[in-house]
Amino acid sequence: MQDLHCQPCDRAADTPEIHHFTTLASTSVEARRWLMEGRTPPFWIVADTQSEGRGRQGRVWQSEPGNLYVSTGRRFSAPPATLATLSLVAGIAVHEAIAKAAATPLTLTLKWPNDIQVGEAKLGGILVESQKSAEPGAYDLTIGIGINITSSPALEERQTTHLAALAPSIARDDLLSELITSFESWLKIWNEGQGLETIITAWQQRAAPLGTPLKVRLGSNRIEGRFAGLDPSGSLLLKQNDGTTRTITGGELL
Ligand code: BTN
Repeated sequence: MQDLHCQPCDRAADTPEIHHFTTLASTSVEARRWLMEGRTPPFWIVADTQSEGRGRQGRVWQSEPGNLYVSTGRRFSAPPATLATLSLVAGIAVHEAIAKAAATPLTLTLKWPNDIQVGEAKLGGILVESQKSAEPGAYDLTIGIGINITSSPALEERQTTHLAALAPSIARDDLLSELITSFESWLKIWNEGQGLETIITAWQQRAAPLGTPLKVRLGSNRIEGRFAGLDPSGSLLLKQNDGTTRTITGGELL
């Protein structure tokens, strides 16, 4: 593992450093280690491959060369419920970055809380993890983003896809650059939760239409209903067949 180059060089002074590695166990694990060791956030860590890439719900994130694997390390003082809404910020940034980097229009949708899809096929995912910071009252966050560019894993439980199958070639570093620009700009709008209303509107504009049928796994239960948007805190609203609306704060969409 070698930090190939640290690149604040050609970036604006307030833009975080970007560190590139050929291989890491996981960019998110590395980012968390840096935060725990006292490295000052914010920073971005990119790897060409990961040997122990991590997905949500304890799943493995297969990390072949050619795709984007990146994490950012951050520190905030907002409460955990507000920090959870950073997955919406990251989703908007991923959506915007892919749309800008792709030479042809793609029908991308965000799936709550933080998948990026084309139709029913997963194109990328976001993993937000937090822990109490050594700084009193603050939380350290790692926001890990994986986007399939040149390949996608064959999964039993989900369709997957990659950008090269959908659009003329997109260079990883162009996509990375768009992603960082979008993320930093939406993060300013989010403003530690002060701008959450704008974030929720922007996220909903990039999600499947209201009324789309959804299945949610909550522990060992599965419930069905229709997408009814997000509530003001960023939780999912599910309109059930009996007409009632249920607020979903955790769980997973199937
Ligand atoms: C998901 O399950 O949808 C979230 C996947 C997140 C994968 C990314 S790849 C970069 C970062 N490092 C990891 O180990 N995981 C995240």
